[in-house]
Formats: sequence, C-alpha cells, structure tokens
Amino acid sequence: MMIRLDKYLADMGAGTRSEIRKSIRAGRAAVNGAVTKRPEIKIDTEKDTVELNGQNVSYEAYEYFMLNKPSGTVSAVTDRQETTVVNLIRDRKRDDLFPVGRLDKDTEGLLLITNDGALAHRLLSPAKHVDKIYFARIRGAVTEEDKKLFARGLDIGDEKPTMPADLTICVSGEISEITLTIREGRFHQVKRMFQAVGKEVIYLKRLGMGPLILDEHLKPGEYRRLTDKEVTELCSLERKQ
Ligand code: URA
Repeated sequence: MMIRLDKYLADMGAGTRSEIRKSIRAGRAAVNGAVTKRPEIKIDTEKDTVELNGQNVSYEAYEYFMLNKPSGTVSAVTDRQETTVVNLIRDRKRDDLFPVGRLDKDTEGLLLITNDGALAHRLLSPAKHVDKIYFARIRGAVTEEDKKLFARGLDIGDEKPTMPADLTICVSGEISEITLTIREGRFHQVKRMFQAVGKEVIYLKRLGMGPLILDEHLKPGEYRRLTDKEVTELCSLERKQ
C-alpha cells in the first residue's frame, strides 16, 4: 500500500498529523535511512523503512486483539463516563480500533478488538450464523425441558423466534451452570432466552466466537494479540461462509 509519510506515522500512533508534520519538517524523520523533510512523500508500506527520532516505525495495516472483557466496561470505542473495551488496549499502534460486536456491561469474556472492518462485518452478519459460545450461571434449576425448548427456538418477544441453540447443562440446582451455543447476536439474547423459560442469568461469560476460543491464561481485563494462525482461521472462515 502507498501512503503519505505523515499518514503512515499518524496511523502508527506517533502523534497528531500536525505534530507529525512539524517533526518531519524539523528533520526528525528518515525514509530508507535518508532524512526527508517532506510530509507528503509516498511510502510503500511493504518495502520502505521509516524512522522517527531515530526509532524504527514499522507499519501495520490491521491489528487484532483478543480481550477477556471484565465486567463493568462498555463495548464501545469511547465513552464520556465509562471505561471502554478499547481503552483497555494500551500497547496498540492504531487509533482506529473497535470491538467486533457487543457484550453487556456486566458480561465477561471473549471480545475481538480490531480495525479490520471487512472481517467485523462478516463475523457479525446475521446471514453468516457464526457460533458464539457462552458459559452462564442461572438462578434456578435448568432442565432437559429447557434444553428441548432452546433447541426448538424460543419466542423472546422479537418478530421471529430464536434459531435452534445448543444448551449443555453442567450443573442443575438452585444455581445452575450451563454452556450455550447460539448462532445469532440479538440484543441481550442469552438473558432473554433464559427469561423466556422463567429463569435469570446471574453471570455470563463468552468463551468462543467462530474459530476463536478465549485464551484461558487471560484474566478479566487482560488481552493479547491474535496469533497468525488465529488470524488465518478467522479469514478462512470469512471465505468459507
Ligand atoms: N447475550 C446477553 O444477554 N448478553 C451478552 O452480553 C451477550 C449475549
């Protein structure tokens, strides 16, 4: 990709465009080892090397992070009052990251944070039916009857019933523990599905989305970059569907 030097540096979080232009004009940037004072020169992001203040600045068109979202953060880019999931990603290069889909403020677990809009669009497209796997604690005994109802599809007050969902009962009792795989992403879907069978979700955590599985080493609030393998799997899912 060919882009202007000042945009290259701004994309990589080196400052605002005007700060960067000042630095370039002051002779603090070099391209392929030679100082340039021209913010507008075109850089080949695949081939050229860029330095600012003597530090190499490599270009990344896309960044992909797996976050274990903690309860109490909002699935947004910015918010006046609340900490957002993007605020938690501190060592990013790009300033155009966003969360792929939403988890409720009190939900924990897997959230993909990226600036790859095409990937996000495909993962979230209702037509793609990407699996989302959740773990939940439920007030009340979850039963085999619930399992059948979830598999059949439930009326949760929307125009259409939910698509068949796989409910696995891990513990059934006063507080039950379950895993649930759904293939849609409706607003408060898991909570509303349990409401429809007279039960309440008291803890919710997302474990998986398509081929991505939450890394068990990530504590709530921690994140890591996706591995190349995970990125390839996500992109091949895009093509398969
Ligand atoms: N379903 C819900 O009810 N809440 C979430 O955060 C995700 C799925």
